[in-house]
Order: sequence, then C-alpha cells, then structure tokens
Amino acid sequence: MCGIVGYIGPRNATPIILSGLKRLEYRGYDSAGLAVLQDGKIEVRREAGKLSQLNGLVNESPISGAPGIGHTRWATHGAPSARNAHPHLGATGRVVVVHNGIVENFLELRDELTSEGVEFNSDTDTEVIVHLVEHHLATGLNLTEAARRTFKQIQGAHGIVLMSADEPDKMVCARIGNAGGVVLGLGEGENFIASDIPAILEHTRRVIFLESRQMAVVIRDAVSVETLEGAAIRPEVHTVAWDSVAAEKGEYRHFMQKEIHEQVRSLTDTLAGRVDFQSGRVRLPELNLTPDLARKIQRIVITACGTAAYAGMVGKVLIERIARIPAEVVIGSELRYSDPILDGNTVVLAISQSGETADTLAAMEEGRRKGALLWSIVNAVGSQAMRIADGSISMQTGPEIGVASTKAFTAPLVDQYLLAVLLADLRGVLDDSTCRKLVADLRLIPDIVGRALEREPEVEKVAHALKDLRDCLYLGRGINMPIAYEGALKLKEISYVHAEGYPAGEMKHGPIALIDENMPVVAIAPRDPWYEKMVSQIQQAKARGGQVVAVATEGDELIPPMCDHVFWVPQCPWMLSPVTTVIPLQLLAYHIAAIRGLDVDQPRNLAKSVTVE
Ligand code: AGP
Repeated sequence: MCGIVGYIGPRNATPIILSGLKRLEYRGYDSAGLAVLQDGKIEVRREAGKLSQLNGLVNESPISGAPGIGHTRWATHGAPSARNAHPHLGATGRVVVVHNGIVENFLELRDELTSEGVEFNSDTDTEVIVHLVEHHLATGLNLTEAARRTFKQIQGAHGIVLMSADEPDKMVCARIGNAGGVVLGLGEGENFIASDIPAILEHTRRVIFLESRQMAVVIRDAVSVETLEGAAIRPEVHTVAWDSVAAEKGEYRHFMQKEIHEQVRSLTDTLAGRVDFQSGRVRLPELNLTPDLARKIQRIVITACGTAAYAGMVGKVLIERIARIPAEVVIGSELRYSDPILDGNTVVLAISQSGETADTLAAMEEGRRKGALLWSIVNAVGSQAMRIADGSISMQTGPEIGVASTKAFTAPLVDQYLLAVLLADLRGVLDDSTCRKLVADLRLIPDIVGRALEREPEVEKVAHALKDLRDCLYLGRGINMPIAYEGALKLKEISYVHAEGYPAGEMKHGPIALIDENMPVVAIAPRDPWYEKMVSQIQQAKARGGQVVAVATEGDELIPPMCDHVFWVPQCPWMLSPVTTVIPLQLLAYHIAAIRGLDVDQPRNLAKSVTVE
C-alpha cells in the first residue's frame, strides 16, 4: 500500500523523489522519507505525518545527490513515527532500503539477526531486509547477489528498492507476489523506479512492469531484469498513454471533486472505439472473445473489493438481464478462502481500479488454480490484474488519485454493459433490434452524466443541511441497490459518518427499527422497474419520522411531496440509471467531508491500493 520512488541519473534525486512521492501520497500517508547519496554517504530524511512534514524537514536540512530512493508509508508493523518511516539504513550506514509489503517471517529473521549482534532501530518488519543484505555483503557478495539472497529469504509479498554507497552506480529492486507493483521508468541517461506510474509520468512514459519473483538492476543507461533464480528476462517496454497533467488537481479543490467531474470524459472515452452505433455492435478486442467461447460460458463470478465490488453487483444485473448468463459477486477476501466451485466453463471476472488489490489478485489466482477463464476490468495500465488475465477491459478513466473511488466506479458499470451486450450478441440471445437499441442507448451517457453533475450546487446545499448528521441509511432496490451500498461507503470513508446501505425491501425485517428523526434516509428511487416499491419504502420511512432524501428522475411528481430533499437525475433507460444515481451521492459525501474540513483525498486509516490482506 506504500508508495515507492527511486531515481538514478545526473540530476539531484531529492526534488524528483519528493514530487514523485506527492503523486503517490494517496497510497499511504502516515509518514514519509527519502535517502540520497551525497558526497559518497547516504543521507536520510524521515518524518512522521504527511509528505508536507517531510518537505519541511528537507527545507530545514537539505540533501542532494543521486541515486536516491523515497517512500510514503501506510503502517503495518510499527507505529507511524519518524523512527519507523522508510528508508531504513543498515548498521554500516552504507545500505538503505524502501519496502512495500509485509515480511511474514520477520520475527524469526529478526531473532536470528539479533543473536548475531545486529541492533534494530525501528519496530518495522522492513528493517530485517537491510540487515540481511548487509549480512550477505559481509560474506563478499556484491549488492545484486546480496539482495537476491535476501529476496529469497523473506516470505510474503513485496516491492523493494535498495541502494548502497559502495556501489553508487546502481539500484536493485524486486517484486515478489502481490504487494503492489514495481515499475521501471526508462529515461534518457537516467532511470526511475516506482510503485505506481503517476510518480514518474512527468519524466517518462516508457515503462517496464516487473512480474512476481523478478528483480532488476537499474543503472543510469540501462536496466536488466531477471528472475530471483537468475534467469535473464527480456521485458516488454510499454508506453503509457496517461500524461502527468491528468494527475494534477487543476482548478478543483480536491482530486475527488475533479475525478467526479471527469466522469463525462471518462465515460465518453469508455465508449470510444468500442461501440459502432451504425451497426449496433460492441467491440472489446482485448477480451479475445469468440462466439464459441461466449457460448461455452455457463457462469460468471465477479470478484472485487469495496467500491469495485459494488460496481460488480450492478454488472451482475446487466449480465443476467442482457446476456442471460448466471452471474454472482463474491468479494475477493471471501472468494480466495471459500474453496469455490469453478471450472473451465466459468469466468472469474475481476474488477479493480489499481489492479493490485491483494484480495482480488488472490481470488483471481484461485480462479486460475481451478481452471476458470480469467477476465479483468482494470484502470491501472499494466497492473497485475491486467497482466494475469486471459482477457482484459481497460477502464478509460486516467489516473484516479482520490482515495475514494468515483470515476473508477462508473467506468466498470459501462464496461460491464458493453460486455453483457457483446456476450449476448455472440451467444445469439439478442434479436437485432434489441441489440441496436441497447447500443443506441449508450449515446445518452455523456449527456445524462453531465446533467447530473450540473446539479452539484443543489447537492451542496443539502450537504450543508445535513453536515452534522451522525448516521445515515441508504436504501435501494434492484439495479440501484448497489448504489445504496456505494453511497454509504462514500459517506463512511471520507466523512466518517456511520452509514449503511440496505436493500430497501429488507427494511421491514429489522432495520426499520432504527428510523427516527435522527436517522436520515437516502432513498434511491429513479424510474426503474423497482420504482413503485421504492415509493412505498419512502412512505414507510417517512411514517416513522425519518428525514428522507430521495434520488429521483427529473419530472417525477410523486416523490417530492414525501421527501425533505430531492436529488434529481435525468431520465434514461433503467439499465444505465446507476451511472446517474451515484453522482449526487458521490457529491453529497464529498461536500459533507469538505464542509467538515476533512482530508477528502486522504481519509484517515485508508490507502488507495490495498496490497495487504
Ligand atoms: C473506494 O472508495 C475504496 N477506497 C475501496 O473500497 C476500493 O474500491 C477497494 O479497495 C478496491 O480497490 P481496487 O479497485 O483498486 O481493487
């Protein structure tokens, strides 16, 4: 979950690393640090708290030189303090490491090292790595071989970068398992290492992704990649389409707000090149889907975590309704240990913004073990979930920096709609005119999303009215039930308000007891096939004194008299309605958090990609 940046080349590494870390701060933000080689010595600066604290420290006590490595941390072992912040120096002060992951056998390794007289200066598991490297260096190995030995000794999943004052012309890094990526950025006479592409996008777009159990030696003019066992690899060089401007906040106060507003563009890009409005056909070439394969599929198991899983729940409805293939959603952390019944006629479809979520990747691996076909819908280009899948749909959203996922929620809704239409078409379950109509409806997306966004001032007004709420219930049904979950999650994670999403029909089986004047109810009630049911649910909530906020379709006359506030969304075919109904809920959570003065983009205890179990 932590962010890592490394630089080797003629420039001063300090500003390069600090600016790279700024772009990775969403990955972890409880402490940060950097190390550079200055006049033959490794100089380290580390500070607890956000990156601004480290910037302050570096201003007071500057360091410059190269190579250099930096880290922004999401604590797993050891409290978030300067002492536990990375980089960690070895006892000689000549070797330094940054690390993302958990050394699962660290207690055992620490005991061994302690019995050899090694003193530990932090409470982290990471520190064993640098001591082990020094231990191997002392036997006469060079940095590369000492690192290799160490990489093989540590258990768990890791991204690691090391450098040594005694071998100043190189950095050594490795990826082991699914602890987040390790990306090598290729420059001219300089090279970069990062846990995530945005950190290096301002310098290069040419990148190499390390696979699990690969390590690399990075020098100014070259990189060499090999397996931990020493077999040379000819890595593929990818050119990343995102530019660094996409990772800036621009005119917006927060990344989350910017990303909410980017949804018109991201959804337009989602359709570009994939929909032929003339023929009424969908193309998803990255999926490698043939009519035979489409007909063979008997079941689709969607796996994901958090917001991505809620997107999957909408996808389940679309796939079943349009393609008539049974679909289910199993969250990654459950699927991986559930001994699932999967076979060659089952597709495991993973959805992930980062493509590096450990639970989702483990669920995919379980699918692989059981012989299922693996597909993914992923935002981060070149991430693990994209690489290990048999076929993949790339979300066209650009980098998502805000920890609360917004545009990476709506993109997979449309991706799954496209997938459902394509499957239906290839399996011959759709007549021509229905297929054309479903495809033609997609034209509406930019307009309906744009119009929902234009109502931001109305949502902001309601946010002011509700700013002090302590609890909130979100209700939805059918295709909009997952929107209730997603709306509640958004409010929880950035506003720290207790919120629950609930299938509205289940209220009468218990939760209705919670409703009183202190429990606002957000009812998602657009004109979809569950509309009448939602109307009666709103009446039931109102009858118990609840304050009701409804998400309703423009022109609805029945709902406003029953509610305290209405968020209007444009009319649209019901299968597309979730891309509109979620928008006021994203905005509501955003504005409540902003009004409360909370750290919208970096909410407490969270990190953007969850690369630990
Ligand atoms: C969303 O707002 C969350 N921060 C979180 O639930 C997220 O969607 C989840 O961790 C999955 O991440 P992924 O899409 O990168 O796999």
